[in-house]
Amino acid sequence: MTPPRQFRNLSLIGFMGTGKSSVGRVVAGLLGFEFLDTDQEIEGLSGKSVSAIFEQHGEPTFREWERQICGMLEEKSGVVIATGGGLPIQEQNLESLKRHSLVICLWATPSTILERVGGHLHRPLLMDANRDEKIRTLLSQRESHYRKADVLVNTEMRSMTEVAQQVLHQFQAVRKLPPADAPDTTSVPASGGPIPDRIQK
Ligand code: S3P
Repeated sequence: MTPPRQFRNLSLIGFMGTGKSSVGRVVAGLLGFEFLDTDQEIEGLSGKSVSAIFEQHGEPTFREWERQICGMLEEKSGVVIATGGGLPIQEQNLESLKRHSLVICLWATPSTILERVGGHLHRPLLMDANRDEKIRTLLSQRESHYRKADVLVNTEMRSMTEVAQQVLHQFQAVRKLPPADAPDTTSVPASGGPIPDRIQK
C-alpha cells in the first residue's frame, strides 16, 4: 500500500524564467520556512557556477548532482525549494520531491519566458542563437513532465505577489493550516493563459 503523502516542504518546479526562486523566497518568508534553491546548493557544494559546471563537466554531471541534491532534500522539513528547470525531467527526482513536498509547477508561455529571461546570460541552455526557438523546443519536450506536478499555477497576467499568494493558498489547503495568517486570495484574478490552476487528480 502506498504511504500517505507528506507535505513537510513545498517544492516549486517549472521552466526557466517562471519565477520559482523569487516566488519561493516570498512564500518561504510568509510561512516562516527556510528557502533553498537547488542551483545554489550545487554551486555551493561544487564551488562553481552552473555555467562553469556545464562548460567544464558537461550537462550529465550537472544532472547527476541534481539527483544527489534531491536525495539530500528528503531529510528536510519546513523548507521551500526552488528547483532548476530541468530537475523534474528525471522522473526519479520528481518522485523524490513528492515524498516530502507539495509540488507546484509555475507555468508561463514561451513568449513570456523569452521576455523574462531576455538579457540573462547565466543559463547555459539558453545560450543559443535562436533563443525563442530553443525555449519553444525545450518547453514542448518538458511539458508532460511539468504537468505531473500536484498543482499547476499559471503565472501569466499575475504579479509575483499574486503568484506567491496562490502558491501559499494551495500549500495551506493541503496542510489544512488555520488560515488566520494567510493573505486574502479572493482578489487573485482568474487565469489569463491557456493553463488554468488546478490540482492534479
Ligand atoms: C536549467 C535551468 C536552470 C539551471 C540550469 C539548467 C534547465 O535553473 O538549473 O541552467 O535545464 O532548465 P532555472 O530554472 O532556475 O533557471
